[in-house]
Amino acid sequence: MIALVGMPGGGKSTVGKQLARQIGVPFVDSDHEIEARIGSSIRQFFEQHGEEAFRDLETEVIAEILARPGEFVLATGGGAVLRERNRELLHAGATVIYLRSTPEDLYRRLRHDTTRPLLQVADPLARLRELHRQRDPLYRRCAHYVLESARPSVHSLVNMALTQL
Ligand code: S3P
Repeated sequence: MIALVGMPGGGKSTVGKQLARQIGVPFVDSDHEIEARIGSSIRQFFEQHGEEAFRDLETEVIAEILARPGEFVLATGGGAVLRERNRELLHAGATVIYLRSTPEDLYRRLRHDTTRPLLQVADPLARLRELHRQRDPLYRRCAHYVLESARPSVHSLVNMALTQL
């Protein structure tokens, strides 16, 4: 099992889908599984119940996904590594790859995004810098490999990931 971690907009879903296709295993996205379970968008859930309730749900869903039999590629939400339990579960249960980007590159990709509740603020670039500063050490702690995703294409990232496995 391969799990991708990293900031929102860092390419976890795009790279994850292609990686899964190349290896010939299913692709699983923990955010999609959460949305299927709650029957609404993550943004709505955040607004109604707050971040802590979302993190509880995220931990439950990640543990449930990791307990499934068979091989697959899992893309996690950008904040999954905030909980120590998630970091441990992912590190022990999967080969974890951190797709690392600079806040500036993330901002370029997410400027017009309205789906990420944490970025619906007056200065999203400052928020991305702050989140990156807080989370970069956590992604590194959770991951077995770090891939810098700012420059290379999705194709070369997938190939880089394949050579690490
Ligand atoms: C979050 C990232 C989102 C989603 C939720 C919280 C975060 O996932 O889980 O909005 O805390 O960074 P993506 O990384 O797929 O955008």
